[in-house]
Amino acid sequence: MKKPWGGRFKQSTDALMEKFSSSVAFDRRLYACDIEGSVAHCKTLAKAGILTRAEAGKIVSGLRKVLAEIESGKFEFDESLEDVHMNVERRLTQLVGPVGGKLHTGRSRNDQVCLDARLYLRRETAAVLELIVRLGKSLLGQARRNVDVVVPGYTHLQRAQPVRLAHHLLAHLEALLRDRERFADALKRIDVMPLGSAALAGSNYPVDRRYTAKLLGFPEVSHNSIDAVGDRDFAVEFVSAAAILMMHLSRFCEEIVLWSSAEFGFIELSDAFTTGSSIMPQKKNPDAAELVRGKSGRVYGHLMALLAMMKSLPLAYNRDLQEDKEAVFDTADTVKMSLAVMAGMVATARFKPPSPERLESEGFLTATEAADYLVLKGVPFREAHEIVGQTVAYCLQKGKPLARLSLAEFKAISPRFEADVFKCLSAEKSVDRKAVYGGTARKRVLEQIARLDKIFKSIEKRRGKSS
Ligand code: ARG
Repeated sequence: MKKPWGGRFKQSTDALMEKFSSSVAFDRRLYACDIEGSVAHCKTLAKAGILTRAEAGKIVSGLRKVLAEIESGKFEFDESLEDVHMNVERRLTQLVGPVGGKLHTGRSRNDQVCLDARLYLRRETAAVLELIVRLGKSLLGQARRNVDVVVPGYTHLQRAQPVRLAHHLLAHLEALLRDRERFADALKRIDVMPLGSAALAGSNYPVDRRYTAKLLGFPEVSHNSIDAVGDRDFAVEFVSAAAILMMHLSRFCEEIVLWSSAEFGFIELSDAFTTGSSIMPQKKNPDAAELVRGKSGRVYGHLMALLAMMKSLPLAYNRDLQEDKEAVFDTADTVKMSLAVMAGMVATARFKPPSPERLESEGFLTATEAADYLVLKGVPFREAHEIVGQTVAYCLQKGKPLARLSLAEFKAISPRFEADVFKCLSAEKSVDRKAVYGGTARKRVLEQIARLDKIFKSIEKRRGKSS
């Protein structure tokens, strides 16, 4: 096939090379961003007097036609034209004639592709931010409904101390809100306009880069043309924020899988977010949670791929950078899908926590309370720990929970135990003693629900203003 540009070549490209080099199979997804960027570039050229108003008008309406053709499915992408940029430009020229060839004045695909990637990631980041809020609100809703539900809290996956279910759910929400901040922060560095950097040294034409930025809604322009075309750290940041988010989602999903087993039995997922088994009729599988957990791996993989792709590149543009696309696209798709599915799964889940009797009779959840009880009676904590440890050993030997021991049995282990020891053994009382800021006491959990509610309201207010 003859090369799409360049008089310098005598031979056409080898078919294998053409296939190897082509990115249009995946970067066609950038078509809308590419056209939006080209329209702004064209208007900037006209403002600088490099194109006449009439020429610019023709080009802009041609670009709009190309957009319509792609959107109606009429457009045929040609692999031999390498990428989306060449495909759009070729069609533009077919539609408007030789004037289409003026669009690329003062621009290189190096700044063009970087602009497209930034426009794309800006949109995707906004979508991710919204979806995080959607999942966050599902969590907050469940927390609100489950303030008075007490569950065993675990460390090392061993029963540790009772906690309010709402407190546990809000722990996941805290992580999610930090993820949101990471994406919002990455957005500041994505939101920078690179056009005018041209191939690497800057454009030969006196284009008003701030004007281009304004047309495209960028608050900043890049400050160094070499940096602008050669770095993809903004994409790495997006994928890195995504990897951390997926790590959090995966941990949450791991718990959903555990909690929906008969062994835990703390949660029942709705039919809408579960699947059956092709052989075992009784099964209701938490596949949504398992898939999110599984998909976290591919996002970590994309992060590694991008970092490795970048690490030895000399400045400025290198063709290796084309390899960022699939990693970034798949990351955005995976993250958006995972968040949306989890929002539905969480909102429709039903919690089935253990009864207060079970909480009190299984796992010695209030053993620490008994130790603290002794501390209040003046026993040093280390000694109290030892005494209650012996009491637990005695219970295990007798097959009894702490609360079923008689006062005489307690006293046989330590005379410091008195009749009021039984009061401290209730899970309900235990949670409300954790009344420090950030603790699991009812008033503290309600305080956090109110705080989180305010955060969501202010996010919504800001979103209302910006749309
Ligand atoms: N397809 C290329 C990419 O994704 C576009 C830029 C090509 N630039 C070049 N000088 N070959 O990176």
